[in-house]
Amino acid sequence: MMKGVILAAGKGSRLYPVTKVIPKPLLPILNRPTLDYAFDQMKACGITDVCIVVGENEQLMREELGDGTEIGLYLSYVRQTDPQGLAHAVGFAEKFVDGDDFVLYLGDAIYDQSLAPFVEQFNASGAANLNLVKEVEDPRRFGVANVENGRIVKLVEKPAEPESNLAMAGMYVFGPEIWWVLPQLKPSARGEYEITDAIQLLVDKGEVVVPGIYEGNWFDTGTLDSFLETSSFLAKGGWVVDESASVNAEMSGMVVIGAKAEVNAKSIKNSVILPGAKINVLGDIDGCLLGGEVTSEQSLSAEIRHGRVQ
Ligand code: DAU
Repeated sequence: MMKGVILAAGKGSRLYPVTKVIPKPLLPILNRPTLDYAFDQMKACGITDVCIVVGENEQLMREELGDGTEIGLYLSYVRQTDPQGLAHAVGFAEKFVDGDDFVLYLGDAIYDQSLAPFVEQFNASGAANLNLVKEVEDPRRFGVANVENGRIVKLVEKPAEPESNLAMAGMYVFGPEIWWVLPQLKPSARGEYEITDAIQLLVDKGEVVVPGIYEGNWFDTGTLDSFLETSSFLAKGGWVVDESASVNAEMSGMVVIGAKAEVNAKSIKNSVILPGAKINVLGDIDGCLLGGEVTSEQSLSAEIRHGRVQ
């Protein structure tokens, strides 16, 4: 039986201070928790048993997501002691996976196409691992794969000089071979146990590792820019204002305003206001992610703020 493992133990530090209040995996994107998109994909792949690797956010995550019965999944949780890399994180799910094949999904990834064909491709391939890859213009901030004759022959994490344009796109399918190489892994230059290096070890051992070429849109919601870009894509560049929100501002471009939020500003564009927020800005709001109580006498541009509600 194919199982699912979702990595959601990162600190989300690039979206501080919002992610100090709301764990990144629960941060609403178009008014749905980020992980909902991962759950949709798991279901599309026919997977019902899903383990979420959590960190300091464990309690809030368990409270918010529960055991999954409401959404038709069996959710369980394991705690990664410290975020020391993706390969370190997946190690905590070994008992849950229990020798089965599994989909590994990075919790901050969102795709607009179903991943089900890649599970089928893996099943038909007899490979030890399939990696979702996507051609991108600048692959330097990703793992990068070299493909020859339909196989991945080399993988490098965030290379300064990439040898191909194929970025590792945040979804992997593994057979049990991965557990044999994890104990041999050493920390990378950035001090993390990289899943990219673990897969390179599989290749070095002569295991078959194949690419799953993804041609749809793929978003990694980790930074303010990518968060706003994802929101804009899902909102089709327009406004999504919850009917319980009250807005007193001129809106243009993408604007997402959550339930019961109150927004007073001269104008607002390309911004996301979280549910329940109370925003009073004398000028304009542009390119922001705002939650809690935020008051400003100046315009806000490209800012992340979360005034804590007492
Ligand atoms: O976005 C795709 C890229 O994701 C791949 O191209 C890279 O090969 C892969 O290493 C990864 O790179 P990032 O540096 O972007 O990964 P990030 O640290 O953002 O973590 C991805 C997810 O995994 C995120 O949801 C948090 C979670 N995570 C991360 C670490 C480091 C954990 O659960 N535990 C961890 O220790």
